[in-house]
Parts: sequence; C-alpha cells; structure tokens
Amino acid sequence: MEPTFTYPTLDKAARYEQFIRDFLPYITDEHEEVSVLANTAAALRQAFGWFWIGFYLVRGEQLILGPFQGDVACYRIRKGRGVCGTAWAQATAQVVPDVELFPGHIACSGRSRSEIVVPLIAEGTVRAVLDIDSDTLATFDDTDRHYLGILCTHLCENIYR
Ligand code: SME
Repeated sequence: MEPTFTYPTLDKAARYEQFIRDFLPYITDEHEEVSVLANTAAALRQAFGWFWIGFYLVRGEQLILGPFQGDVACYRIRKGRGVCGTAWAQATAQVVPDVELFPGHIACSGRSRSEIVVPLIAEGTVRAVLDIDSDTLATFDDTDRHYLGILCTHLCENIYR
C-alpha cells in the first residue's frame, strides 16, 4: 500500500517526528536532487496540508524554482531578495508570522499569509531552500523551524553527498 503520511490525531511535534520516521526510508536509496525534493514536497503536502510547499535551487547568483506542490510560482529569486533570498544570503531559517510585515516579501500568491523558509546547507554552502506558505497568519514557529531543519539536514546528507 502506498504511504499516506497523514496523522490527524497527532499534535505538531509528534506529527513531525512520525513524518520524519515514515519518510526517511523513501529517500535512502535515491540521491537525485530533483526526484528526492519532488517526493519531499508531495509527502509534506500530505502530512501537513499547507497550500504551497516547494524548493528553490541555487543556480549561480540566483534561486530557480524547483519541485513544488501548489499554485504556479515565480521562477527566479535573487540573493537577498524576499524571504527565500534572505534565507539563502543569511544561511538561516526565516519564520515569517505575517508576510505583509516582511520587508521585500515576494508575493507569488495573494493567498499567502505566513511563511517559513529553511536553507539546505551542505559543507557550509546553501544549495537550496525549502519554502512553505500558509493561508493563515502565524502558522509557523520554533517547532517547525526545528523539525524542518532536521528534515533538511537529512535531505542534504542524501542528495548533496
Ligand atoms: N514568498 C517568497 C517567494 C516564493 S513564493 O512564496 C512560492 C519570498 O518572499 O521569497
């Protein structure tokens, strides 16, 4: 049976822990960047239901749109621009409770109210960012930052070896 990655009865932390346990076996034998990130976006969508989940990939001096689940989005983001470009430039996760209050936020979708961006860092270099948008305010907090950071570390170990 295909996995559903749905955990309706679990609170946020427990849901992340179960998700990471269930999902890691799906990436251990595959190391292709686009393929692994595509399944990661799909599995996160199943587990958490946020309306936009995806990756922007570092290519030269810009981020380009990578695998995602959700509405069509902007193709390219320059370093230091928007939430994604800031996470890249600072090599740190950005938790944005209200996107309208983030200077320079790039509105790919008018539905986005809050956002989290977590960099994928391999050997000190940002290779991609995980970007998640929610249609409600203040969806993300330190619990999301913590567990998505763990997930991104696993992804890096797997695809940027
Ligand atoms: N809001 C992002 C742009 C990407 S979309 O949310 C998919 C940003 O400010 O970098």
